[in-house]
Amino acid sequence: MRFVAKTLFGLEKVLSEELISLGADNVQIVNRAVLFEGEREFLYTANYCLRTALSILVPIADFRIRSKEDLYKSGLKIEWDRFMDPDDTFSIVPVINSPLFGHTGYAGLILKDAIADYFRNKTGRRPSVDTTNPGILINLHISNDKAIVSLDSSVIPLFKRGYRQEQSIAPLNEVLAAGIILMSGWKSSATLTDPMCGSGTIPVEAGLIACNIPPGRFRQFFGFQRWKDFDEEIFEKIKLKCNNQICASPVKIFGSDISEQTLQFAKANVARAGLNDVISLDVSDFKNLKSNNDPSYLFLNPPYGQRIQPEEIDLLYSMIGTTLKHNFSGSVAWLITSNRESLKYVGLKPKEKHVLFNGALECILLKYELYQGSKKHD
Ligand SMILES: C[S@@+](CC[C@H](N)C(=O)[O-])C[C@H]1O[C@@H](n2cnc3c(N)ncnc32)[C@H](O)[C@@H]1O
Repeated sequence: MRFVAKTLFGLEKVLSEELISLGADNVQIVNRAVLFEGEREFLYTANYCLRTALSILVPIADFRIRSKEDLYKSGLKIEWDRFMDPDDTFSIVPVINSPLFGHTGYAGLILKDAIADYFRNKTGRRPSVDTTNPGILINLHISNDKAIVSLDSSVIPLFKRGYRQEQSIAPLNEVLAAGIILMSGWKSSATLTDPMCGSGTIPVEAGLIACNIPPGRFRQFFGFQRWKDFDEEIFEKIKLKCNNQICASPVKIFGSDISEQTLQFAKANVARAGLNDVISLDVSDFKNLKSNNDPSYLFLNPPYGQRIQPEEIDLLYSMIGTTLKHNFSGSVAWLITSNRESLKYVGLKPKEKHVLFNGALECILLKYELYQGSKKHD
């Protein structure tokens, strides 16, 4: 079977590496997605284990269209009763980039009519649309004249792990947090610190990686569980096999934040993820932190500045640079922000730069290798 794992811009490579190490075949990177092949059971494993996928689609039909009518006719030819019954509910997510459709929703309506007519012609009844809790979620992708119809096997996006119920004002997407950690090359052998941890997303994702905990472990539901061909026994076996590989963390992970209230959120999330023994959390201003001279990895996701005066945010970024240079010599720091202006005030020369997206927000991820004298202007 051919599958499409969707991801955030910039994470395609780490996702492809995850897929290869899970055993996927014919892995191929495309824009914001990775194509791969595997057995049906592999779809369950991928949903349960992938840290950097947003959702996994299963293409069921692809065809060319020259008009709106073509979409209806080709939609009517799909054997919908292989996937659902007239009593089921469904919803369609249209992703349209075609001059044939001025209005994205219209393409979805045409496919909906085709599905309804397919069942009405066959059974006299039709499945109804439920956009909030659909039994089957259908993805309709049209690029110019090329249409692909897929089933969404995740339904609830995979970044919704289930452990994060409390969050700070600007939390990182869990998929992005896991992606940054995997991109950094951190191999659970060096101490990891997030000194501006907010609701604790980076420490928790690092803890899950260190303990080999599948990110799907906390979820109650995946879309494929409502499919006609869902095999619960196989899914239970897969979960058991993956959960049996959970281990103790070889390293300690630290999170701190200047805000007492935010740290309470982080504590609740760490506890929900079962990582109390792995992650230590403290209230602290970053400027007062110092490394204990072990080589360590720092991950910083400072405020972007939307709710702070410009002078204050520049001072904050300057303090980050000074603290990294003086207190964390010998460490590697990864910093992600959308505020390119204030970044100048960090005053350190980055070794690597990557463009990533936190939801719709364009961010930059920088790697700093810290040593005495690494700050350009003191
Ligand atoms: C963008 S948020 C981090 C969000 C976090 N990555 C998450 O997923 O929830 C930035 C955090 O930096 C913290 N912060 C701001 N100034 C700080 C400082 N001087 N020292 C430590 N933390 C600070 C804020 O309280 C806020 O929680």
